[in-house]
Amino acid sequence: MSIKIEENASLKNLNSFAVEACCRYLVRLKKPEQLKEILADPRFEKLPRLILGGGSNILFRQDFPGFVIQVKNRGIQLLYEDDVHYFVQAAAGENWHAFVQHSLKQGWAGLENLSCIPGTVGAAPIQNIGAYGVELEERFHALNAIDLTTGEAITFDRDACQFSYRDSLFKKNRDHYLVTDVTFKLPKNPKWKLDYAGIHEMLDDTKPVSARAISDVVCQLRQKKLPDPTLIGNAGSFFKNPLVSDDRFQMLKADFPDMPAWPQSDDLIKLSAAWLIEQCGWKGKRYRDAGVSENHALVLVNHGNASGDEIWHLAEAIIHSVKEKYEIILQPEPLIL
Ligand code: EPU
Repeated sequence: MSIKIEENASLKNLNSFAVEACCRYLVRLKKPEQLKEILADPRFEKLPRLILGGGSNILFRQDFPGFVIQVKNRGIQLLYEDDVHYFVQAAAGENWHAFVQHSLKQGWAGLENLSCIPGTVGAAPIQNIGAYGVELEERFHALNAIDLTTGEAITFDRDACQFSYRDSLFKKNRDHYLVTDVTFKLPKNPKWKLDYAGIHEMLDDTKPVSARAISDVVCQLRQKKLPDPTLIGNAGSFFKNPLVSDDRFQMLKADFPDMPAWPQSDDLIKLSAAWLIEQCGWKGKRYRDAGVSENHALVLVNHGNASGDEIWHLAEAIIHSVKEKYEIILQPEPLIL
């Protein structure tokens, strides 16, 4: 049976900001094999493409004039195990949080700090998701993808993905590859990561630490701080935390002694975008239906009927004022289209 191609489809329910936007063609891809038909379609060659997972890291400022492929394949399996690791493969269309919960139920630890992140498995390596002291690359083994220019299937190991903070080869070459599944390397003897502020304090110290307990605490922390996109449109952190050199940080620190900072490797210091934005007075502010969350200054929200352009207008005003005060240029984390 040939794949259904919807024309002039609304994307409002397919982006977590819940802004209105239309695309020229929409395809819901349940099996990677169906891609052959799309690649052979003469319309596909000429038009721009967009691969969509959960739509939780994207802002549509306008309609999309090409093909949107929503990846919806399913399946999770233990590929193999050795003495120290489980190698677990999940289809790109699986919901990320459901996959983490499924892993924990099977006794596969390692992803617990990444609980409750919206989006899909296939989108997770694109921006190398990270939270509460763990980044996806630390648990990543390999992924399979299809090169949309040739139709060829390619396997990428960890080095080939060029991961860095919220970045990868796939983010730099948007819509060149369609990720079909991801394999994780999960330790049989995990070392818990409890350093991130809040985790240690919230764990019940009368019970032994477990992946399940960490996952529960991470979900509670996120629910406290981050607005639920099913209730109020948002895309999580709207800006990346800026990275500056140590010299630059010392100069900033002289003027702003309270500025929070976290040393990274190689003379790099990570600053808090949320703090910078809050210091500029933006927390809880609103422009029409576009706003800055009252709970977390890094999260822009859609209070109801904001357009993508209104949210972007607010983002630009924030970038401008942070630049004026700190000479730091904030970079958006979501894809802006
Ligand atoms: N802070 C403020 N004001 C606020 C919120 C935070 O000043 O309104 C300051 C505080 O000093 C706080 C610090 O910012 O200690 C860090 O805040 P938080 O722990 O919430 O982390 P974040 O740096 O704002 C990052 C990720 C989140 C991830 C959390 C937890 C980025 C861009 N964001 O946020 O990821 O959940 O750490 O690990 O790296 C996402 O990428 O969408 C996302 C939600």
